[in-house]
Amino acid sequence: KRPVAMAVQRTFSILKPDVTRRNLTGAVNARIEAAGLRIIAQKRVHMTRAQAETFYGVHRERPFFGELVEMMTAAPVVVQVLEGEDAILAYRAVMGATNPEKADAGTIRKDFAISMGENSVHGSDAPETAAQEIAQWFAGNEIVG
Ligand code: TYD
Repeated sequence: KRPVAMAVQRTFSILKPDVTRRNLTGAVNARIEAAGLRIIAQKRVHMTRAQAETFYGVHRERPFFGELVEMMTAAPVVVQVLEGEDAILAYRAVMGATNPEKADAGTIRKDFAISMGENSVHGSDAPETAAQEIAQWFAGNEIVG
């Protein structure tokens, strides 16, 4: 078999309100950097309801949508672009499962998340969504790779 070449990739990340509220921004960033991901763009924002509804638009019909939007707008968040080998999957791995009770040991969600709703971090799930999410939050000249 030929080895599959790994590619440098970008993903979009959010440190959610439960992280900023508990002053855990640096602790979570340390996990991100320890996983070999570089933070190539970062800013703190307080999402408007409209921004949160757009961001999570895919979940609009789900029963948890209202709570999700409330939670994401309850306090500031930190939005980021991460870069590294296979960044999308690499970040999903260090994030851990959506439900922190099911997250593996050593993951961000296992160690920091409060609940399924307040699960500390967002990471893109595919290249197309990563590109879309990055474009929602960053101008090209704010990303410095
Ligand atoms: P999802 O995209 O399924 O998970 P992930 O963040 O791991 O990509 O869901 C988006 C967010 O919606 C999730 O991080 C927390 C919230 N959520 C709930 O509150 N309840 C639920 O049952 C699900 C599936 C998600």
